Amino acid sequence: MTTIADAFAAAYGRAPEGVWSAPGRVNLIGEHTDYNNGFVLPFAIDYRTQAAIARREDREIHLRSTFADGEVVASLDALDPATMDGWSAYVLGVAWAAADAGVSMEGAFGLDILIDSRVPVGAGLSSSAALECAAGVAFNDLWGWDLDKLAIARLGRVAENTAVGAPTGLLDQAASMLGKEDHVVFLDCLTEEARPVPLHLREEGLGILVMNSNVEHEHATGGYGDRFRSCERGAKELGVESLREVDRDGLERALEVLDAETLRRVRHVVTENERVLATVDTLEEHGPRALGPLLDASQESMRDDFEITVREIDLACEAAVAGGAIGARMTGGGFGGSSIALVPLDKADAIADAVRAALAQAGLREPTIFPVVPSEGARRDS
Ligand code: GLA
Repeated sequence: MTTIADAFAAAYGRAPEGVWSAPGRVNLIGEHTDYNNGFVLPFAIDYRTQAAIARREDREIHLRSTFADGEVVASLDALDPATMDGWSAYVLGVAWAAADAGVSMEGAFGLDILIDSRVPVGAGLSSSAALECAAGVAFNDLWGWDLDKLAIARLGRVAENTAVGAPTGLLDQAASMLGKEDHVVFLDCLTEEARPVPLHLREEGLGILVMNSNVEHEHATGGYGDRFRSCERGAKELGVESLREVDRDGLERALEVLDAETLRRVRHVVTENERVLATVDTLEEHGPRALGPLLDASQESMRDDFEITVREIDLACEAAVAGGAIGARMTGGGFGGSSIALVPLDKADAIADAVRAALAQAGLREPTIFPVVPSEGARRDS
């Protein structure tokens, strides 16, 4: 098997100085709450993006990958988000974001970089955050930034927002940076306090299946931005800084103030925040087998109130639960992408078969179904 070090040597004619990696993520619950200063509960998955790197004597970044032809070259003295595009924007954007945040790039040297990724693209599993965080941990080590994990996650978010142009929150990068084996990351997006919460999946004989609808989403345009703006409008009309400040009583008042559509959007965010907190409590008090009703309620809220699911996702979740899953819900930004099912391991194959059969019978696109394991966040591999 060719390793990334071999591929680097073939591309650049010398050995890399090190290899860094960062994972994609699944959000267990807490969707579209991050940019509303709410709560999220993601985990890092066992699909990673690797970056093999060696320093150069000039101040140029040379970027290649195992998934696209050619080489992108950028000067550290002329990093400009306006000229960044494609997958390389996720890497160069992190260097730009650091400089923009006041991290000194004066002593920084150029780099030869080769990227390889096992995180499925377009599946809603944050292949972009994996790329940003792999670059972030590598730059942090190589250029001696001395930033903590959350600070690196923030740079990844800024890169995504600026260089890529998607108005996303901190969910994906925080999961990729802070992930821990068999744990979810409980993040309060207002205070940016994070703590790992044990999942106990293995000892309970449970697993998580990703059901990729194979319907591709695009967050830089379209529905994601619309939802972002609906939430902004809702907050403004309710006279609050962010929807985090709205509770059940606030929802009552919202009934009188908001139009029907904005009310549904706001209701999703408010109830989803409650469900994240309830999920943490339930995990700590009763364990993962008790999570079914919360996962299913989140799916319903995304389907009926936030309206970000597609038929393929709704049906996959229904069929998974009917087939014996403990609970199932869409994960990520929506409009396609993936859903997840929490399943007893001994029923995983039967549940996957039931989901495929239900979609086939409805004449819908065949999903790609595979297990994911909550794993370690970004790190230096070698
Ligand atoms: C995408 C974004 C995240 C988050 C989710 C929805 O994954 O990148 O910041 O908003 O959608 O929860």
